[in-house]
Amino acid sequence: MAPAAPAAPPRHTPVMAERVVALLAPALARPGAVFVDATLGAGGHSALIAQACPDARLIGIDRDDEAIAIATDRLAALASAKRFQAVHANYDEIADVAQDLGLDRVDAALFDLGVSSMQLDEPDRGFAYAHDAALDMRMDPASGSPTAADVLNTYPERDLARVLRDYGEERFAQRIAHRLVERRAARPWATTRELAEAVRDAIPAAARRTGGNPAKRTFQALRIEVNGELDHVAAAIPAAIGLLPVGGRIAVLAYHSLEDRIVKRALAAGAATLAPPDLPVIPEDQQPELKLLTRGAEKPGAAELETNPRSASARLRAAERIRPARPLAAHGHGPGSRRTPRTRATAQTARAKEAKK
Ligand SMILES: C[S@@+](CC[C@H](N)C(=O)[O-])C[C@H]1O[C@@H](n2cnc3c(N)ncnc32)[C@H](O)[C@@H]1O
Repeated sequence: MAPAAPAAPPRHTPVMAERVVALLAPALARPGAVFVDATLGAGGHSALIAQACPDARLIGIDRDDEAIAIATDRLAALASAKRFQAVHANYDEIADVAQDLGLDRVDAALFDLGVSSMQLDEPDRGFAYAHDAALDMRMDPASGSPTAADVLNTYPERDLARVLRDYGEERFAQRIAHRLVERRAARPWATTRELAEAVRDAIPAAARRTGGNPAKRTFQALRIEVNGELDHVAAAIPAAIGLLPVGGRIAVLAYHSLEDRIVKRALAAGAATLAPPDLPVIPEDQQPELKLLTRGAEKPGAAELETNPRSASARLRAAERIRPARPLAAHGHGPGSRRTPRTRATAQTARAKEAKK
């Protein structure tokens, strides 16, 4: 009999995995403690948490059906043991997901933001300039939300330039946006290859020689816009913080400076006192509710950068709840963030829909 084929290696390498586990495990020692992996992906971080925290129960959220299927397969043994459950949802619905599962607290939450290697490497998803495909880029294609082609074919030039500048940090945003709008008058944008070629042609020859593929920044910017990524992060982090009990922990891996800034501000707001600086005694309800567990943002070490170059832009921040949530009015998060509506259209996708009309 032929030997069984070896199992295919996981297609996504979890970033800063050891450190993430070390930061979250202390909150997951109690039997039945709940870990929410808000960005399940291939289940890499979840598998390691399950190993390190054998008494914890795992909930994995992802908006991508393919990711859910891959992780469910990988974590099947945990699911049979009733330790793992996958939920197809947007992570800014984390409070609704918890409520639907009858959970009134989440002991540890992880957000590993952005796209997975599976999404980038899957030729027909349209995320990568390296594969020719339809310009889709939606993490949840079943959502019916606008695609990258919709954005490219409908946004006014100034909005395209803003997206490329803000989300892609593209120096030549205006030039590229102008080229994109000029070309679509003759033929609408449809494929990743033609977009990558047009971006390369729009950039001055001297600038093409440095910094990798010149289309990289444009593709990143479109992906962030198409998926409303920043709006979802801004809603999700406070909602997750609101679910942590005292001793509960949150860790976030961001790969983009704007994303990291949102995370930094949300954690810093919880770690600050609300009292005016001249108050001699800080009232209990104005005390910090979080303690930062990372000094600034931590980065991957040299060894990880060597084996997984895709980790290069990662920035890890983490915090622990040290007091019950302050009243909602005080800072804009806490249990009230549970009201995040399930079908909330983000400002980004709303803009895209508006432009499509
Ligand atoms: C970097 S990957 C996570 C990889 C995972 N930590 C692992 O080790 O396999 C990010 C995942 O988050 C998902 N995602 C991105 N934005 C999301 C959102 N707003 N709601 C739910 N999932 C989201 C993506 O579909 C992707 O599968």
